[in-house]
Amino acid sequence: MRAPRPNRYRDAWAGELDADRAGQEARVSGWVHRRRDHGGLIFIDVRDRTGILQLVFHPESAPEVHAEAHKLRSEDVITVTGQVRRRAPENVNPNLATGEIELGVAALEILADAETPPFQIDDDGAGGEVNEELRLRHRPLDLRRASMQEALVLRHWIVRAMRGVLEDRNFLEVETPYLTRSTPEGARDFLVPARTGGGRGGLFYALPQSPQLFKQLLMIGGLERYYQIARCFRDEDSRADRLPEFTQLDIEMGFVEEDDVIELMEAVMTAVFATVDFPVPPAPWPQMTHAEAMSRFGSDRPDTRFGLELHDLGGAVAQTEFKVFAGTIASGGVVRGINAGARELPRSELDALTDYVKRYGAKGLVWAFVEGVGGDPSWRSPVAKFLSTAEIAAVNERLGASVGDVLFIVADTAEVAAASLGALRLELSRRFSLVPEGVHDVRWIVRFPMFHYSPDEDRWDAEHHPFTAPATASGEPAGVADLDDAATLLSRSYDLVLDGNEIGGGSIRNHRLDVQRRVFELIGISDDEAEARFGFLLDALRYGAPPHGGIAMGLDRIVALLADRDNIREVIAFPKATSGGDPLTGAPAPVDAGQLRELGIKLA
Ligand code: AMO
Ligand code: AMP
Repeated sequence: MRAPRPNRYRDAWAGELDADRAGQEARVSGWVHRRRDHGGLIFIDVRDRTGILQLVFHPESAPEVHAEAHKLRSEDVITVTGQVRRRAPENVNPNLATGEIELGVAALEILADAETPPFQIDDDGAGGEVNEELRLRHRPLDLRRASMQEALVLRHWIVRAMRGVLEDRNFLEVETPYLTRSTPEGARDFLVPARTGGGRGGLFYALPQSPQLFKQLLMIGGLERYYQIARCFRDEDSRADRLPEFTQLDIEMGFVEEDDVIELMEAVMTAVFATVDFPVPPAPWPQMTHAEAMSRFGSDRPDTRFGLELHDLGGAVAQTEFKVFAGTIASGGVVRGINAGARELPRSELDALTDYVKRYGAKGLVWAFVEGVGGDPSWRSPVAKFLSTAEIAAVNERLGASVGDVLFIVADTAEVAAASLGALRLELSRRFSLVPEGVHDVRWIVRFPMFHYSPDEDRWDAEHHPFTAPATASGEPAGVADLDDAATLLSRSYDLVLDGNEIGGGSIRNHRLDVQRRVFELIGISDDEAEARFGFLLDALRYGAPPHGGIAMGLDRIVALLADRDNIREVIAFPKATSGGDPLTGAPAPVDAGQLRELGIKLA
């Protein structure tokens, strides 16, 4: 770091002093990291953001200071002045940036005492062993850990790299409102009761699920190139890669098509990867269609770094008498399988895997150990007796089976078969460490379906969001005349996937009022409802909207992946806990009766 302005607390950073200053005086401040007493000598490691420096307190040369040092405990805040000294060669610590030197302390000031911290600060692990609620409850202490500081520094550098490219390309950073109306990104809204409206209550803001509509309005407003490091709010359950409050790098561009957005994002992400020396293949990155991703990997964010691809076995078992397969095929379902390779799996694990796929809706899981292939096919499997030799041979062939391989098969709707086998292949890759060390994959997924059918609500819903421009089944931009069969339409959207994680997504938008209205109609939003909810957008589309499109990148996910953390909370200074609440502030919390009265709210 740039040297600090000398003041009463410091004239150097503790972690950046080096042997060049040997023989000179230095003053540093920080926290007591660790303390060791060696006979008469007291060694204290002092810590600031830059790192750690060893302090030595001599009983003879500075007896009063030495006596003070006896009182020091972990996390006390101190300022010390003394002489920088080279350590004797046998005392050099090669693991410490300041390991060649130490500070012989001549003056000590204790600026603040610390009570015994609720957990150790000085272990440099990711902190996984300490209860997470406790860490979040005491986040200021947790932030002192090296692993948290490293993550936040990395996050800063990543944002900086993003801004660098966007600055170069003349993007304008524009803020958009947090207090707004519901935006349809598909999650539940966070609502904020409004005091205005004559104190009657009943009026609510919604926190934005993304700046989607505002960034489109900025394009209609002629801003051409917009970006924002934007906070998004979605009231959904927390997971390792999902929080109710998270951050996007949000981008929109006027007069562009898919390739323009993709090229820009490749430049941005290439700069990000380079900043942190994260090895990915050079851009342009491959583009895989959604259909291919689903059929080969059972996922719209496929991890393609290992095999175990899904294969369709419908042809192999078309005439089977095995009820599970025959019944599924007869009702329009599919039979799909993967070859998990030669592995030992005891019965208990096979049962566990069966339970695992059931979480994804599968009704069961056929497993089979291949005991013979070619002219003498045979399986050890509970269903072997229901299948003919020819069927076993055909399945073996489809799955490229060799003796010793274990095969897994699911019969279900195409969606459930994909979801359950897609999840199974990831679970197997975790259990058997199938991802090769140091290999990373980044790719675009394109040609998504425009809509998906939601059986619960008995209607079609936008797969990305309803402002996305539709495309025909062959991928051409769709005009309003093409928009009658919701089932076959594709969309002009794209997702960026890193190692099986969706790190960003976006689309070309509807800039024509007629197309936008028709899309609303297809998902059951009437003209009246559209006017009521999105009238401001429809209005803007009436006055000359340019073709436009954009993308939003999940910043938390990107940082977590590049910092090698398995949880996005590890790369956010003050994240919500898995419960959705904030153990630090205690939010959400009750409010007093007066506040409720002002808002016209009565609790049920
Ligand atoms: P989308 O909803 O796909 O698109 O979000 C874009 C990216 O944001 C990240 N993300 C999340 N990260 C953490 N917690 C969450 N709850 C969460 N939800 C999403 C993902 C995702 O790829 N307005 C559109 C973008 C556009 O069309 O331009 C949007 O928000 O990495
Ligand atoms: P059952 O006939 O229900 O006893 O199932 C026989 C075997 O087929 C068991 O190993 C089940 O796990 C499996 N199974 C049942 N339903 C399915 C299905 N839809 N897809 C794959 N395997 C299934």
